[in-house]
Formats: sequence, C-alpha cells, structure tokens
Amino acid sequence: MNEQKKIEWSEKLKIGIKEIDEQHQMLFKIANTVFDMIGQNPTKDQLAEVIGQLLDYTVYHFSTEEKYFGEFKYDKSEEHTAYHNSFETKVLELQNKYPDNNLELAIEIADFLENWLVEHIMHSDKEYVECFKLHGLK
Ligand SMILES: [Fe+2]
Ligand SMILES: [Fe+2]
Repeated sequence: MNEQKKIEWSEKLKIGIKEIDEQHQMLFKIANTVFDMIGQNPTKDQLAEVIGQLLDYTVYHFSTEEKYFGEFKYDKSEEHTAYHNSFETKVLELQNKYPDNNLELAIEIADFLENWLVEHIMHSDKEYVECFKLHGLK
C-alpha cells in the first residue's frame, strides 16, 4: 500500500450534470482525506471519523441519484440501486472483518472505493445522463 496514494479526478469522469459531478468530486476529496490520514500515524478515533465521513457522504450521494430515479421513472433504477446496495454490503463485510482495526479497515475501504467509484461512474452513472437531462437537469 502506497501511503502517498491519491485518487485522481479527471475530465473523463465528468458526466455533465453539475450537482452529480460536484458530489463525485467531493467523494474523491473525502477518499483522498482517508488516504492522507492513513499515511499520518492516525489514532483510532481519527480514522473512525474519516471513515464515517466517507460512508455518510457515499450514502447521501446514492440517495441523491436514487431520488431522481424515482422522480424520473428511470428504467434502470432497479439494477443501478442494486449496484449501490452492493457497495454498502461490501463495506459492512469489511467492518465485520476488522472490528478493531481501523487502519486496515480504512485502507481496504479506500482501496475498494477507488476502484468501485471509477468503474461505477464510467459505466453506470453515465447511463442515466440522457434520462436526467431529458428531465431538465444540467
Ligand atoms: Fe450511481
Ligand atoms: Fe454516482
């Protein structure tokens, strides 16, 4: 594990809907806070706090997308929501795996999120853009 690790935001991750792009960028920012903290000899409480922030914001972001799925009757709502739920299931698994080791937990969550997030934005989030735009989001 490289302690100087960063998740780089890039233009190709932009989906073209302001609110969502801002939330995705915020997720990258919080994930990078976790990576930074991992390299700084953190206390258990400090780690618990950043992990909590990351998970809270992730849940908030998912609920934003899912709110629009409902409003716009998005046809892939079910599979997309299942994908979100699979993230939450994975995090719960990791929390059970490391009940007393916040450092391992933080490393695994941040690593998992990095891969998951890029893949999810590129493949799943991009699919709802047309629908969201049709309903006036920009
Ligand atoms: Fe999503
Ligand atoms: Fe998203």
